[in-house]
Amino acid sequence: MIKFLDLRKQYSILKNEIDEAVLRVFEEGSFIKGEEVRRFESSFAQYCEASHCIACANGTDGLAVLLKAFELPEKSTVIVPANTFIATAESVISNGLNVKFADIDDDFTISPESVASLITDDVSAVMAVHLYGHPAKMDEIREITAKKGIVLIEDAAQAHGAMLNGKKTGTLADGAVFSFYPGKVLGAAGDAGAVVLNDDKIAEKVRKYCDHGRSDKYIHQFPGINSRMDSIQAAVLNVKLKYLESWIEARNKVASIYLNSIKENEELILPHPRKGVRHAWHLFVIKTKRRDELKKYLESNGIECGIHYPVSLPQQPAFIGESGYASKYRAVLEQNDVLSLPIGEHLDEKEVLEVSRKINDFFS
Ligand SMILES: Cc1ncc(COP(=O)(O)O)c(C=O)c1O
Repeated sequence: MIKFLDLRKQYSILKNEIDEAVLRVFEEGSFIKGEEVRRFESSFAQYCEASHCIACANGTDGLAVLLKAFELPEKSTVIVPANTFIATAESVISNGLNVKFADIDDDFTISPESVASLITDDVSAVMAVHLYGHPAKMDEIREITAKKGIVLIEDAAQAHGAMLNGKKTGTLADGAVFSFYPGKVLGAAGDAGAVVLNDDKIAEKVRKYCDHGRSDKYIHQFPGINSRMDSIQAAVLNVKLKYLESWIEARNKVASIYLNSIKENEELILPHPRKGVRHAWHLFVIKTKRRDELKKYLESNGIECGIHYPVSLPQQPAFIGESGYASKYRAVLEQNDVLSLPIGEHLDEKEVLEVSRKINDFFS
């Protein structure tokens, strides 16, 4: 079996370090806002080359809290890509704001042209998602948001350590959010997330919002929420962060083997990264009109695959009727074509070549 993801293998390699780190949390009895959390915030901010990292309970909360901190006009509209995980759009709705869906480009990230076409007076922010670990076209989108004086947020939930023209995700907009859901490139042992940014004032607001609006133990400046990363998650992440660069390198190696060994043809499109991009390769997503047939073939040959995502957001029951969406969008047309191949440091070269060989066999 060639696994899509293998967290048990990762744990078996890091077992001693992780067990020791988790045990330390119990021995210190500091489960909330402890030293491990402070250490992770400082290390991850440094890793992203950003001024602030605020650890929170999950990426969904991080997005919602970051949007809140910008105090966008009531009932204003936020543009999000039509192809992303639902959390991106949920954070808009949970703030009482309206969502407008922009189309994506052939690299799966939000299309600057589509964003430009959706800008109206009520638009207060754009959320760009570095989908699958591939940075969105932040320079082009920044040009649009800067001209309009509106907020630009990175949903970097899938893009730890990805870079655009030498700059890390987390520093490419007014604020960014990461998820450490276990299956992510950097994953916790449960839910966890972080907001990363350079703005001192917004950072302070985010920190307070995540912790009941607290400025002191029992002094609350405003009603916030309880969204803190717990010390056990931080302890696990502190261990794993040391390996992140090597894991991203391993993912890039897998991707380059795929790109060199799978033969592209008129029925198959491979995900070539844009120039100036360091891909984090959370997912390696190919496109083919014969997706379901290929998936079945690979699975019958012991190769696990995934689909991200089978239904675009504008077509979800939750969002039917939202504006800014057209059924001719690439995001909608391609939702039946996308197939995610196994990728990660758990794979060896032989396995990656085997996946490639089976795909080539299928199309020949
Ligand atoms: C693009 C995107 N945004 C947001 C999230 C939400 O993160 P979390 O699952 O940590 O709440 C995820 C992860 O699942 C995601 O993939």
